Amino acid sequence: MHISIIGTGYVGLVTGACFSEFGVFVTCIDKDKNKIESLKNGVIPFYEPGLDDLVKRNFKQGRLKFSTDIGEAVEESLVIFIAVGTPPRGDGSADLSYVDNVAKEIANHIKSYKVIVTKSTVPVGTGERIRKTISQHLKEEVNFDIVSNPEFLREGAAIEDFMRPNRVVIGTRSQQAAAIMKDLYRPLYLIETPFVITNIETAELIKYASNSFLATKISFINEMANLCEKVGADVNVVAKGMGLDRRIGPKFLHAGPGFGGSCFPKDTKALLKIASEHNVELGIVNAAIKANENQIAWTTEKIKNAFKAQKGSRAEEQKNLTGITIAILGLSFKPNTDDIRESPAISIIQGLLNADANIRAYDPVAMDNTKAVLPDITYCNDAYDACNGADAVVIITEWNQFRNLEMERIKQLLKQPYFFDLRNIYEPQKMQALGFKYYSVGRSAL
Ligand SMILES: NC(=O)c1ccc[n+]([C@@H]2O[C@H](COP(=O)([O-])OP(=O)(O)OC[C@H]3O[C@@H](n4cnc5c(N)ncnc54)[C@H](O)[C@@H]3O)[C@@H](O)[C@H]2O)c1
Repeated sequence: MHISIIGTGYVGLVTGACFSEFGVFVTCIDKDKNKIESLKNGVIPFYEPGLDDLVKRNFKQGRLKFSTDIGEAVEESLVIFIAVGTPPRGDGSADLSYVDNVAKEIANHIKSYKVIVTKSTVPVGTGERIRKTISQHLKEEVNFDIVSNPEFLREGAAIEDFMRPNRVVIGTRSQQAAAIMKDLYRPLYLIETPFVITNIETAELIKYASNSFLATKISFINEMANLCEKVGADVNVVAKGMGLDRRIGPKFLHAGPGFGGSCFPKDTKALLKIASEHNVELGIVNAAIKANENQIAWTTEKIKNAFKAQKGSRAEEQKNLTGITIAILGLSFKPNTDDIRESPAISIIQGLLNADANIRAYDPVAMDNTKAVLPDITYCNDAYDACNGADAVVIITEWNQFRNLEMERIKQLLKQPYFFDLRNIYEPQKMQALGFKYYSVGRSAL
């Protein structure tokens, strides 16, 4: 089978590379000429563990092609995936202009039966919208089917998630399209992946409901963490105690600085917008968003407050971190990715800069992306370089290399021993015994 993927970003490239690994012939299309040229030269545009090898191998073996020519790709493919971005608009709704453009371009080139699949996360009703757009722009009378096949991969573990997903969701009205999709995903049938075959609207909603539920779990434990700090409880143990209940489960119960990334913030807001358009109130999703905004703001305040005592009467001033240098460890929204979209690190740094702090930052792979939005902070060679001469260190992203830092060395490098561990990696008692003014999330009243 030959397929094409339109939009060669995180989702499109991973999808294309993984299907080609399954033996399918794949053309990955993007309108960004530089990206396509780089890919042809073996340069992967973002960091994702294992993707480099997969792309290079399948490209070399001729199963994976890169092109900007959507016409040729549509002509030779039976299945066409749409994997372009659906970024948030000012009112929180998903911007469907990229999807609309692709639908029109596909319509211009269809000459035989095609299955057109949305992998992008799109509001309920978009499948129908694509059907109408294509029908209106078709050059000749041709049959086509629309499928919703939302993607659930996690950046940083995207290949494993694609190759061994918890489930595959296929939404379509057409039995023929469902059969073609099952055929395409046959390697996953063989490993007994559950398939949810349903209508388009249900498939579209499953994606938003899943992400909003996970975001809610994170906001829930973050609020519990704030309470833990006040009542002397330990949120890690609370989460463990909760997670052992199989009805709750242990995942997504890690307290921290708040969720970020390219999906949770935008998908929760888009779901609220979809619901409000149908006069349905989603109070829980609304609260999860609000709790997350509070968490990020509160984390910044926590750092600022720690220096209040030193700053005396100037503590209430907005710029109360004048003369204070803060080392930031981790910039990406989570480990194993260079994606900084909606990363809590960016908001926290901006809050600290507003308070006049100097920032020395380090991230194993996300510094180039961060330079584009925060050009004026100091970028460092490693965690120790970042701590050199700083008044405080803040771990924001739990990269493995931050899990076993040489604390004696860190302490010597810091001007003052303030340590903010926003991922609860270290033991409070041990850190205090080492002489750090140690702050974590939901584990102490410090
Ligand atoms: N990133 C994730 O972890 C993830 C996970 C699941 C679902 N999703 C969803 O998948 C979709 C894509 O996300 P992403 O992170 O891969 O986005 P991305 O921004 O990394 O990639 C989108 C790509 O589409 C290209 N594009 C835009 N218009 C085009 C056109 N007319 N023709 C050809 N190419 C075009 C862009 O140049 C870009 O390379 C979004 O709807 C997102 O919500 C993302």
